[in-house]
Amino acid sequence: MLVSATEMLKKARDGKYAVGQFNINNLEWTKAILLTAQECNSPVILGVSEGAGKYMTGFETVAAMVAAMDKSLGITVPVALHLDHGSYEGCYKCIKAGFTSIMFDGSHFPIEENVAKTTELVNVAHNLGLSIEAEVGSIGGEEDGVVGAGECADPNECKMIADLGVDFLAAGIGNIHGKYPENWAGLSFETLAAVNEKVGEMPLVLHGGTGIPDDMIKKAISLGVAKINVNTECQLSFQEATREYIEAGKDQQGKGFDPRKLLNPGFEAIKAKVKEKMELFGSVDKA
Ligand code: 13P
Repeated sequence: MLVSATEMLKKARDGKYAVGQFNINNLEWTKAILLTAQECNSPVILGVSEGAGKYMTGFETVAAMVAAMDKSLGITVPVALHLDHGSYEGCYKCIKAGFTSIMFDGSHFPIEENVAKTTELVNVAHNLGLSIEAEVGSIGGEEDGVVGAGECADPNECKMIADLGVDFLAAGIGNIHGKYPENWAGLSFETLAAVNEKVGEMPLVLHGGTGIPDDMIKKAISLGVAKINVNTECQLSFQEATREYIEAGKDQQGKGFDPRKLLNPGFEAIKAKVKEKMELFGSVDKA
């Protein structure tokens, strides 16, 4: 059931669990995540970066595929189709294409410009029933060409952006997209606690979910995080399972070259990873 992310994240914040945002790349990814959410009776957010949208030939294709798949698979759990790290133009494209949620990442703009653009997009999104995420302080690392230095968010700026009426807020707390380096200092719970105190009941978003130790995930949830984004970990699971299949020579046995067989181990690996994360985040049976 395609819905905005507002209600599911309010419920998560109140119930002290988090909803996973899993980024999609193609049909296999989308099907794996939707089926797992249904099996786990969990709400879910499908994240689409601008790069992934382009890869899938545009946001219209993505929205049409997700809507049709949601219907064909008989998905009854709440599913939000969400633009990840959207540009100003990308947000409008997704609104037009039929997404149910957008993220405007104005974190690289001076705060005044971030405020002005976020205000405008909040109004447009809410008039059409979409939810909207904003970002303060950048998420470190690189994801589909979006590069961030990883500075911690200023709690006062978070309050300023939260007060514009966004539905959930991503605050940089030392998190990084992709794998964490050996010398990573860990999440700044000091920053998270300060942001949480400033923004009241606003659900907070933790990007860069890949590789964050379980105890840090649980602590972050206890401090107001209600949405956790995972992308790289599903890619790694898919890659490892596919490599194993090919290295075992299974693609050369019988009809093992059939794409439906060749992509199946990776598909199953994504399902297992998403289930593991839903259990960790506490969203199982919360649909
Ligand atoms: P990871 O790729 O590190 O899991 O980050 C995902 C993310 O934050 C998407 O916005």
